[in-house]
Amino acid sequence: MFTIITGSQFGDEGKGKIVDLLAKNYDIVARFQGGNNAGHTVKVGDEVYKLHLIPSGILLDARILIGPGVVLNPEVLAEEITMLEKHGIKVDAGKLGIDAKTSIIMPYHIEMDGIREAFREQKIGTTRRGIGNAYIDKIARDEIRMAELVNSDRFLAKLEELAHQKETEIEAMGGDLEIVRDPVLIERYLELGRQFAAYVTDVSREINEALDEGKNVMAEGAQGTHLDVIHGTQKFVTSSSTIAGSACANLGVGPTRVDNVIAIVKAYITRVGEGPLPTELTDELGEKIQIAGGEFGTTTGRGRRCGWFDLPLLKKAITLNGYTEISLTKLDVLTGLDPVRICVCYNYRGENIDYPPELTEDLEKCSPVYEDLPGWKNDLTQVKSFEELPENAKGYVRRLEELMKVPIGYISVGPGRAQTFKKGNYSAWVKQHQ
Ligand code: GDP
Ligand code: IMO
Ligand code: MG
Repeated sequence: MFTIITGSQFGDEGKGKIVDLLAKNYDIVARFQGGNNAGHTVKVGDEVYKLHLIPSGILLDARILIGPGVVLNPEVLAEEITMLEKHGIKVDAGKLGIDAKTSIIMPYHIEMDGIREAFREQKIGTTRRGIGNAYIDKIARDEIRMAELVNSDRFLAKLEELAHQKETEIEAMGGDLEIVRDPVLIERYLELGRQFAAYVTDVSREINEALDEGKNVMAEGAQGTHLDVIHGTQKFVTSSSTIAGSACANLGVGPTRVDNVIAIVKAYITRVGEGPLPTELTDELGEKIQIAGGEFGTTTGRGRRCGWFDLPLLKKAITLNGYTEISLTKLDVLTGLDPVRICVCYNYRGENIDYPPELTEDLEKCSPVYEDLPGWKNDLTQVKSFEELPENAKGYVRRLEELMKVPIGYISVGPGRAQTFKKGNYSAWVKQHQ
């Protein structure tokens, strides 16, 4: 079985939690795009793991893969492995594989990301982790790949080939060109290359062979649908394709092998950084949701902007990803709000439209049209089944499902593993495909 999981909104929907929850059914969990701009949080008991690069299946028995479409900062990977080992989780070459073609984020990419963002008249609000610049080099065919990082001769030769170009670019931007040939940084990268040499693998081959043997593979997306570099709210997007089809292209798995595509959907909406968010609540209510939901960036600590559930954006996410099932997260956060509102369509130039306009500047002009539902007061964090939910919470979930026209499988009511229950048909699905 090949399952793809993606964020359906602007990221931080709770992908880490749901991937961790489902990973016990999978033999392989693979990241297919993005880099350490992502922050996926997994809570197990009292321990909280914040993962930026390593797939969230790491805490279970699955083999973990980082695909060639990822941009990898080896220093961040080393820090993450150390963090996990401190918690008693061993990460060796048997557990983690990294594709030979994975692009490496170099210190100069981070420098350039920072300068570019500083000079942008209209900011994107990037995470300043060098993501965009690493992808620029990939597309320009000027990247350093994992296979080069782990071979000192190839690494030094590639850096020599690129150094002058990078120095010229950084100098023209007014940055510190010394960073390109900094001997301490180069020595550190060589050391990291030696550390990760044994991890290099062919991810496409591993996954396809596993599928041939009848094993289960999960592709874990990062960011969210509307941050997609092709279909998102340009220019306020990340630099990779975040939608389900990207998992096939980036992992080298044919689309005919996909069995199911799971959406992670937050019961409201959040966004970090700049860009339109039609249902944004800029008042005390927005702040209340931000605090109740702990909506502060896992990677940068920035406050996430919060708003009511946005159906037009979700409809577009369903179209772009072809979702077969939804995991609904953070329902507990809406406790105490009355009414709870669903944006069912937008008012755009005096007309009601139920699907987002294609251009970002037009989405900026959309104002939400709400359907109000009665709220509930009870704490949901200990609820163990759909039947136990207060009637109004059930009503909210049923109405969302009716509007989205995709079945809701899991409902999450807290960050912990136990704070999740099934509404519908996920286990039937898994059984049918085992
Ligand atoms: P990701 O990037 O999609 O993996 O999401 P993040 O980990 O960045 O952000 C989601 C946050 O919400 C994390 O702190 C999770 O621990 C937390 N979380 C996940 N599901 C729930 C839930 O159902 N309720 C609450 N209250 N928190 C949740
Ligand atoms: P996860 O995987 C939320 C946002 C940044 C910025 C834009 C571009 O945790 O859901 P970049 O550094 O990628 O060039 O920044 O994308 N962004 C995210 N927002 N969650 C993420 O990842 C994000 N990764 C990038 O805030 O607006
Ligand atoms: Mg996140």
